[in-house]
Amino acid sequence: MTIETMDAIRDRLGRVLEGIIPDFEIDLHAPIVRKIEELKVEKSAIVLAHNYQVPEIFHGIADFTGDSLALARKAAGTRARIIVFCGVHFMAETAKILNPGRKVLLPDLEAGCSLAESISAQDVRDLRASHPGVPAVCYINTTAAVKAECDACCTSGNALAVVEAMPGDELIFIPDEYLTANVQRQTKKRLIPWPGRCMVHETFEVEMLRAYRLQFEGLEILAHPECSPEVVAEADFCGSTSAMLERVARTPAKRVLLVTECGMADNIRNRHPDKEFVSSCTICPHMKKIQLDKVLASLESESPEILVDEEVARRAKLAVERMLAIG
Ligand code: 13P
Ligand code: SF4
Repeated sequence: MTIETMDAIRDRLGRVLEGIIPDFEIDLHAPIVRKIEELKVEKSAIVLAHNYQVPEIFHGIADFTGDSLALARKAAGTRARIIVFCGVHFMAETAKILNPGRKVLLPDLEAGCSLAESISAQDVRDLRASHPGVPAVCYINTTAAVKAECDACCTSGNALAVVEAMPGDELIFIPDEYLTANVQRQTKKRLIPWPGRCMVHETFEVEMLRAYRLQFEGLEILAHPECSPEVVAEADFCGSTSAMLERVARTPAKRVLLVTECGMADNIRNRHPDKEFVSSCTICPHMKKIQLDKVLASLESESPEILVDEEVARRAKLAVERMLAIG
């Protein structure tokens, strides 16, 4: 595989990042992008990046971008020796669980998630003990240890499908109380929740959405299912980050508001020059821990590496594979 020249990289970044980040930053990023591209070839590495990653990662170095579900599928299928995960810890851990023979790197181990931190494996064991015989489904935004205690996991892209595919009329569905409430509205099964929340999506309020509607005529509002049920009810569309991106591409609306981590709008602004992205900026501090220089350092040193206890990984894999088999 040929590596782009520095001029070609600068041109490419200039095209995809124009208007998103200033020109001087593109000049600063170009040499780092080139070194990363060289190391990817030399070390047989692939870069997977979540939709919330900064534009220079999303457009500059990612081999594949997507939501949690798409990234998990990609991680399961890659033959690269190294997976560099530009996302948060639970995502990298899922990649390791699905592909234990590969080295999985997370450029900053501090990139966590308020949902994953909201529940422990012991909490799940206690919850299951108080609801004997009730199957448990966990959101992918959980640690491997929590997944290992559950029967299946799900993402925002397939939560309803997983719930409907599980046996019985009752389900433990953890840990995002808002996702649970949003799925509860679409299923007859009784969902037993856990009081976890995403620190980004819990900040959005209905009044704010209404104020935007009044100010911006013809506005289409797209919300992530980690938002409160009231916010989701006020929105015109609800879906995973990738479903939101697909909806932006399809909708005839000229003005859109993405009720989610605000970096995502930056990543697609240039693809839709005919649309106005009305912004409400709430960033995920965890996602933003991953920066281009840390990706380079991580590839150079092949660290920090994600390691999962073998027995925990074996049990967690069953939950993740059950999800992948459902949809
Ligand atoms: P998606 O799976 O929809 O990309 O969501 C992941 C996430 O962490 C949203 O906050
Ligand atoms: Fe976790 Fe929320 Fe950040 Fe997503 S946006 S990684 S759910 S804290």
